[in-house]
Amino acid sequence: MSGNIVIGGGTGFVGKHLINALKNKNYAITVISRMPGPQHISWNDLNKSGLPQGTFAVVNLAGQNVMDFKQRWSAGFKQNVFNSRINTTSALAKAINEASVKPQAFISMSGVGAYKPDKSTQYTESSHVSNFDFFSKLVLEWEKATSLNNEAQKQCRVVSIRSGVVLGRDGGMIKQLYLPFFLGLGGPIGDGSQFLPWIHIADLVNLIIFAIENNKVKGIINGVAPSPCTNKEFSNAFAKALRRPACIPVPKLVFNIMLGNDRAKMVTEGQKVLPQRAQELGFKFQYPTVSEACLNIVK
Ligand SMILES: NC(=O)c1ccc[n+]([C@@H]2O[C@H](COP(=O)([O-])OP(=O)(O)OC[C@H]3O[C@@H](n4cnc5c(N)ncnc54)[C@H](OP(=O)(O)O)[C@@H]3O)[C@@H](O)[C@H]2O)c1
Repeated sequence: MSGNIVIGGGTGFVGKHLINALKNKNYAITVISRMPGPQHISWNDLNKSGLPQGTFAVVNLAGQNVMDFKQRWSAGFKQNVFNSRINTTSALAKAINEASVKPQAFISMSGVGAYKPDKSTQYTESSHVSNFDFFSKLVLEWEKATSLNNEAQKQCRVVSIRSGVVLGRDGGMIKQLYLPFFLGLGGPIGDGSQFLPWIHIADLVNLIIFAIENNKVKGIINGVAPSPCTNKEFSNAFAKALRRPACIPVPKLVFNIMLGNDRAKMVTEGQKVLPQRAQELGFKFQYPTVSEACLNIVK
C-alpha cells in the first residue's frame, strides 16, 4: 500500500517510530507540527488550506507531555494538556469533513485513563467508562473530538487507540527510569501491586498501521499488551533485563509531591486492561510479555 499519511504531533516519541515504519512501507508523510521542518506543515496551514491532496490516512499523536516533571500541575498546564489534544483532534476532524476526497482512516491516540483504577476489574473495550476525574474527562473529550459529520463518516473510519504506557528505549517512561534502574536504584512505586497497562513501542506502531490498513478496525481499540502486569512485575522485569536489583521501593508520597495528586495517580494507581478487540481482529503482538519487552529495550 502507499499514499500520504498526515501525522499531527509526528515529531514526538511515537511519531518518530511510526514515521520510520511507514517509510519502510513506502508511504509518504506530512507532519503537522508547531515547528518548521522538512515535510512539515503547521496547524495554521491545516486550518487555512485543509488536508494535503492525496491524503490516504490521518493520525493524531499531538499532545503536551503530561509527565514533564519540570511543569507544575497548575490550572494553566492542565488547560494546555487538554487543549493540545482536543483542539488538534477537532482541527483534523474538521479538515476531514471539509476534504473533497476523504482519507480512508482517521486514527487518534487516547488513553486507558477512561477506565477507573482498580485492582480486580478486567477492562475491555466494552467496559463502562465515565467521567470521574481529570484524565477520564480528558480521554472522553479527546475521543469525542474525533467525531465526523454524517457524510465523512460513510467514507472515513475513525479509530481511537486507548494506549497504555508506551515502552521504548528512547522516550516516554523508560527514558525517565533508565538511569535510576541502571544505577541499581530502581524499584516499585509504593507496594507495586497497582496494575501498569503497557505496550511496547513496536506493537503500538504496528497497531496504528494495522488500523490504517485494515478496514475492519473502527471505534475504540485498547492499545495494551495481552499480558497485563503490576508495577512491581514491571520493575522486576526491567531491573532483571538490566541485570540490576529492583529492591528500592519509592513511596507514593514522593510522586504525590513531585507530580501533584491528580497526575501521580497515573503511576501510583492503575487498571487491568486487555486488548480484546485487537486480538479478535487478528492483531499479533511482537512483545506480549513485559519481560520480552524489557529485554528488547535494553538490548
Ligand atoms: N508515550 C506514552 O507512554 C503514551 C501513553 C498513552 C498515550 N500517549 C499519547 O500518545 C500521543 C503521542 O505520545 P508521545 O509519547 O509520542 O508524545 P510526545 O513525544 O510528547 O510528542 C507529542 C507531540 O505533540 C506535540 N505537542 C506537544 N505539545 C503540544 C501543544 N501544546 N500543542 C500542540 N502540539 C503539541 C509535539 O509536536 P511539535 O512540537 O512538533 O508540535 C510533540 O512532538 C500523545 O498524545 C500522548 O498523550 C502516549
